[in-house]
Amino acid sequence: MSCCCSLLAWALLTLLGLGAARENPNCCGPIVPRREWRALASECHQSLKSPMRYVVVSHTVGSPCDTPASCLKQVHNVQSYHMRNLGWCDVGYNFLIGEDGLVYEGRGWNRQGAHAGSAWNPKSIGISFMGNYTERAPPLRALRAAQSLLACGVARGALTPNYEVKGHRDVQDTLSPGDRLYEIIQTWPHYRD
Ligand SMILES: *[C@@H]1O[C@H](CO)[C@@H](O)[C@H](O)[C@H]1NC(C)=O
Repeated sequence: MSCCCSLLAWALLTLLGLGAARENPNCCGPIVPRREWRALASECHQSLKSPMRYVVVSHTVGSPCDTPASCLKQVHNVQSYHMRNLGWCDVGYNFLIGEDGLVYEGRGWNRQGAHAGSAWNPKSIGISFMGNYTERAPPLRALRAAQSLLACGVARGALTPNYEVKGHRDVQDTLSPGDRLYEIIQTWPHYRD
């Protein structure tokens, strides 16, 4: 069932007073929860104020992964690097995208990330594609996963309906998210430089 159909059904249920939930979970594709990738416990305490206006897209420039099994491991590696090597309170990103087409929960919608510097971390959701997208584009399933995550963010009130997508290089001095991925996100309807 499409997001639109389920949204309609959800609106009808709400009109009839049958639906208590204010968000429509059917709009959201599956997000692999932290316990499933065996995340170390977060030690972060800074929260974000929903709804957020900005989304910053980066790449990890680490290894890509294209199966759920390899992506579980890769998310774990990224978190481990951020916490053990860099001393951060958790994996830096709010969400990570695998070439398996799945979204992996990082800090989630409500915790401030460490992905775009001190000016942008407090006011943006950071999503990072796992891989190096300088010369190669992510597969369509990964791009779709990211777009449906953002639609889900609007549906659940975590993003403003007029949210703006920015490339990591638009807000910090970096090559991220890589030339190829940067070209692609510039075509997204919510992209603003
Ligand atoms: C990313 O890929 C580019 C092009 O293949 C390469 O030049 C660069 O060194 C890679 N970056 C990292 C951090 O591996």
